[in-house]
Amino acid sequence: MTSLEQSISRGGQGDGIRLRPVSDAIGAEVLDVDLAAVDDALFDKIHAAWMDHCVLLFRNQENMSDEALVSFSRRVGTLDQAPPNENGKRFVDGFPEILVISNVVENGVALGSLGAGESVWHTDMNYIEEPPTASLLWGMEVPETGGNTGFLNMYKALEDLPADLRARIEGRQIKHDNSTNSAGYLREGAVEVTDVTTCPGAVHPIIRTHPVTGRQALYLGRRRNAYVVGLPVEESEELLDALWAHTEQEKYYWHHKWQVGDVLMWDNRCAMHRRDPFDASARRIMHRTQIKGTKPV
Ligand code: OGA
Ligand code: MN
Repeated sequence: MTSLEQSISRGGQGDGIRLRPVSDAIGAEVLDVDLAAVDDALFDKIHAAWMDHCVLLFRNQENMSDEALVSFSRRVGTLDQAPPNENGKRFVDGFPEILVISNVVENGVALGSLGAGESVWHTDMNYIEEPPTASLLWGMEVPETGGNTGFLNMYKALEDLPADLRARIEGRQIKHDNSTNSAGYLREGAVEVTDVTTCPGAVHPIIRTHPVTGRQALYLGRRRNAYVVGLPVEESEELLDALWAHTEQEKYYWHHKWQVGDVLMWDNRCAMHRRDPFDASARRIMHRTQIKGTKPV
């Protein structure tokens, strides 16, 4: 055990499981845990570590299966049914909770969502009234290069926010446009946005309080067509640009390079994520679950 690992596993809540930080910004790897065989006591420790680190990585999950992914995910909370993909399809027979994220096309049919392109920084489904608490992603087939998933620490981004910017967002809300997904595809039935003040989408506070940790975090959702409610559009655009320029600094994020058998779980209440593009001829297949959330406050 390195001294860093020791200092983390000694550090109170994570006691009893071994953790290794993956970056200074966010995230920890949980060592020696088989997610297919987690009991209540172990889950409590995992959950405490997750509250501390916002994102957990579990490697070499040889016993992982759709069943195991769903049953571990149920410990985290109530599962969402997988939303239909860009073609309006659902994916895994017998597991309506599992969404496939993949670029692979077999016999003319896309196995999953998001293709091979970049996905921008976002929080999952920020545009609905009760955005999901968490998502879990299991790497089944991963490309040699590219397709890394980045995570950004929204507690830290808020803590460091210059005082003048903080004063400008105190008590304010963002309207979160629901017309496109994180890969930029226009959702079924959605129309191209021409006026950010009137396009449909949920309104949430820019500073939210995490319901478990009690810590405040910045909640930006995603940049495209966002609008700070009550401001003239020009002022809203300028304020959002300033907030994003501050937030997208390297010191707040970490990118995960996938190996087959990795499982990541992230907390949408304190982390944003994105994905690098990858070679479209490479195969990337991930199975994913999503935990229902509550209205951000
Ligand atoms: C997601 C997502 C990123 C990835 O599943 O919500 O944004 O790396 N995926 O595929
Ligand atoms: Mn996402």
